[in-house]
Amino acid sequence: MQRGKGMKFVGDSRIKTAEHRKPNIPKDYSEYPGKTEAFWPNFLLKEWMVGAVFLVGYLCLTVAHPSPLERIADPTDTAYIPLPDWYFLFLYQLLKYTYASGPYNVIGALVIPGLAFGALMLAPFIDRGPHRRPAKRPFAVGFMLLAIAAIFFLTWESASTHDWEAAKKQGEIVAESSVDKESEGYKVFNASGCISCHGAELTGGASAPTLLDTGLTPEEVAKIAKEGQGAMPAGMFKGSDEDLEKLAEFISNAKSE
Ligand code: HEC
Repeated sequence: MQRGKGMKFVGDSRIKTAEHRKPNIPKDYSEYPGKTEAFWPNFLLKEWMVGAVFLVGYLCLTVAHPSPLERIADPTDTAYIPLPDWYFLFLYQLLKYTYASGPYNVIGALVIPGLAFGALMLAPFIDRGPHRRPAKRPFAVGFMLLAIAAIFFLTWESASTHDWEAAKKQGEIVAESSVDKESEGYKVFNASGCISCHGAELTGGASAPTLLDTGLTPEEVAKIAKEGQGAMPAGMFKGSDEDLEKLAEFISNAKSE
């Protein structure tokens, strides 16, 4: 048989087969010695082995660099700046540039990513050249290199300009206090509504500071509870003097463990 006669491209969806193939009759690849292999088990085995290498690689990475465990998400904390995972960092970084943010948000969030991913989807229809060598497909290769360079650059910029110290701080898990919730003082604390701002664990909240380790004397606490201080309104405590004493004693002694 003459070489190349009746030749078909294999596995290239852009090329139509010349003739209709009859179903259930496998193609004859005998004309491509050394270039074909059985799907099962040869090809699949190779795929699985490559997959296993990546899987073990990621496994090692996750063990070596476990993702940091942060405190419980607090929807009232608007100061918290979330950071996307590394594979979205380039999109995150894009939104920081002048013409992709603020009034131009639509450009950074929709137009640019839309064009890029749209082009990716349309690539097989736009570039229908049958060549396989990179040198013969300058546009496809050029755009691919451009995309890789852009993603690499943006990811790098994002990681290097991010304030990792501040991020670590804002997600820090604050040690829970071991306040005695059975104590008389805690009951007054609860009944007086102090919890709504200072938290059930006295660890503070979005707007009020922690009441652990204040270093305040009971007299000072009692004064603040009645007269307020700064952003804390006056008249928060409305109970008896006896209760106030218990409350003040309790807060003055409250310590984080
Ligand atoms: C409306 C929210 C709110 C409530 C309710 C509230 N506080 Fe406060 N509290 C604050 C804020 C805000 C501060 C910080 C005030 C400042 O110094 O600017 C504060 C500060 C304090 C301080 C001083 C802490 C320090 O380290 O200086 C004490 C003590 C205190 N509160 C006790 C109480 C007690 C006791 C109650 C209940 C009777 C109570 N608070 C209820 C908001 C609140």
